[in-house]
Amino acid sequence: MGERVCLITGASRGIGAATARELGIRGFRVVVNHRDSATAAEAVAHDVRAAGGDALVVQADVTDPGDVNRLVDTAVGHWGRLDVLVHNAMAPFPVTSFADLDWEQLSAKLDQEMHAAYLLTKAVLPGMTDRGHGRLVYLSTGLSRRPRDGMIALGVAKAALDSFVRYVAAEVAPDGITANVVAPSTVEDTAVGDGLPDELRTQLAAATPMRRLARPEDVARTVAHFAGDDAAFTTGSWAPVNGGSIMP
Ligand SMILES: NC(=O)c1ccc[n+]([C@@H]2O[C@H](COP(=O)([O-])OP(=O)(O)OC[C@H]3O[C@@H](n4cnc5c(N)ncnc54)[C@H](OP(=O)(O)O)[C@@H]3O)[C@@H](O)[C@H]2O)c1
Repeated sequence: MGERVCLITGASRGIGAATARELGIRGFRVVVNHRDSATAAEAVAHDVRAAGGDALVVQADVTDPGDVNRLVDTAVGHWGRLDVLVHNAMAPFPVTSFADLDWEQLSAKLDQEMHAAYLLTKAVLPGMTDRGHGRLVYLSTGLSRRPRDGMIALGVAKAALDSFVRYVAAEVAPDGITANVVAPSTVEDTAVGDGLPDELRTQLAAATPMRRLARPEDVARTVAHFAGDDAAFTTGSWAPVNGGSIMP
């Protein structure tokens, strides 16, 4: 059926950029979405093409309905179809205890996380359903299952995402579409990973059976597994990429 077309949200840096490069190596056509970082997104697209894939950069805010429809229409207009959605873009979140957490902070995080997942899933599913094939991959976090100080807003929002994916997976399975969650632990070379104090990074690595933090490439290879056909009979799963720190 020719080269598959994959949309990766938030692919200008971090896990999304590593995933774009990995899928490029595997011969995918990749839509590199970003919100603000056009230069970084173009550099990722250049790497994808250099690796033998093809890439299209599309700016869009994934929490904006008009932007999401334009993003998907642009991808489909360019390549005729969309086979894979990797929803990776990260909305900001407050780092705070429950004692200091305002309802406005929590509801804003829940709204952004779920609105983006909802909009993207709604936009890509009709084409996948028509073709009887599709791959949906969503980035969550181990913090949706195991609490860490300060991470309540992110952890709760991602737990909602985890459940959303299971419901979507059950509904679209008869149409040949899979939906899976990839859930990393703390990842190096990302804004969140690099923003942690050195002491905490050392503690987290020491508490991990494999004795290190995750790397963007670790996550990218697991996403690629679900984006291709190797995992064609796996849906609704929650795949940890965490060196053994949570064994669900
Ligand atoms: N880093 C970790 O330790 C870690 C651990 C577990 C799970 N995760 C999950 O993995 C995913 C990626 O995390 P990351 O750390 O790689 O992120 P990151 O380095 O902070 O990059 C975030 C990406 O999302 C884009 N983005 C942010 N808001 C957007 C919006 N409204 N619309 C479109 N794009 C938007 C950014 O684009 P611009 O540059 O253009 O703003 C950027 O490309 C997230 O879902 C995160 O929750 C991360």
